[in-house]
Amino acid sequence: MAKLFAQIRFIAGALALALMIAAATPVSAQVNPTTSAVKEQQLLNTLQDGGISGRVSIPDQKSANLIRPAGRDWQHWHQVTLRWIGAIAVLGALALMVIIYLSRGMIKIEGGRSGRTIVRFNAFERFIHWLTASCFIILALSGLNITFGKPLLLPLLGPEAFTTWSELAKYAHNFLSFPFTIGVVLIFLTWIGGNIPNAVDIEWFKRGGGILSDDHPPAGHFNGGQKVIYWIVVLGGGASAVTGYLLLFPFYGTGISGMQLSEIIHATVGMLFIAAMLGHIYIGTIGMEGAAEAMGEGSVDVNWAKQHHSLWLADEMSRAKGSGAARPMGTPAE
Ligand code: HEM
Repeated sequence: MAKLFAQIRFIAGALALALMIAAATPVSAQVNPTTSAVKEQQLLNTLQDGGISGRVSIPDQKSANLIRPAGRDWQHWHQVTLRWIGAIAVLGALALMVIIYLSRGMIKIEGGRSGRTIVRFNAFERFIHWLTASCFIILALSGLNITFGKPLLLPLLGPEAFTTWSELAKYAHNFLSFPFTIGVVLIFLTWIGGNIPNAVDIEWFKRGGGILSDDHPPAGHFNGGQKVIYWIVVLGGGASAVTGYLLLFPFYGTGISGMQLSEIIHATVGMLFIAAMLGHIYIGTIGMEGAAEAMGEGSVDVNWAKQHHSLWLADEMSRAKGSGAARPMGTPAE
């Protein structure tokens, strides 16, 4: 009899203990996470939208979050998916440029230089262009280091040099974001007038912008391709800034999920932005004779203007005739 009572007591005790464990575990899942038979993946799948949280006595309640399975999806995105997107976008853009350069070469000024130049961008316009461009280049390189530095540079530089470089790059990324944002805002305000899409752009695109042939579709101050670049800078720069500042000032604007989403948008926009700007740099340098001068000295050869921006040139000439001189023109090139 005493043995029977002892057995009943044991079973009741075991049941009570099981009940206490079940009640104390803050998991809404069907799976008991304390059972050794539960596989980690099974537990994570069951907890997909929730997590395992405890209680803390410090003011920062976020520290009570012990496991957040959604973080693993983000980690996979960051270490695998993003690297694929970045590699395809950046290497794809470079490969495309090599193909275009090898098949088309530099687009020359037909009939050579006239020896007369016309002002295309004033000092302020060139300043905002170079302010934004120089910040962009450093933001792009330091951003790429966050995505690709560990697998590509760490083995080459070793831990100490890589740490020093990454720290510098991170400071540069944080602080240059401010002049970059100012540059994007100034570009938006300064050039919005010339960048509203119109019927001339449709014709320009229909004729492929004259990039792959010797055709020269008419264009105003900015052609269809340049307008696309303008909107990529304004919208891509705007999106980089908003999402970047959400990451730079954590938990001010959003929580963990919002920051993960911000990082996904920031990094994807960043990679596509870099690919687009590689195209812009190509056409402004080795892709087209006479283009770099526009943002260098600020003036271009009249024959270049006739070939690539005929409507703008005609406009400037008629204004110069009408009012003495709108923008200085006819300066003999040295
Ligand atoms: C206002 C502008 C910007 C701000 C405030 C900003 C801020 C940030 C912050 C805080 C991070 C996270 C750094 C970390 O994980 O430690 C980041 C990452 C990154 N940024 Fe920016 N950024 C800006 C512009 C740009 C631009 C223009 C580009 C591209 C040209 C860019 C490309 C990247 C890339 C590729 C990453 C790494 C993404 C990753 O692997 O997680 N950023 N940025």
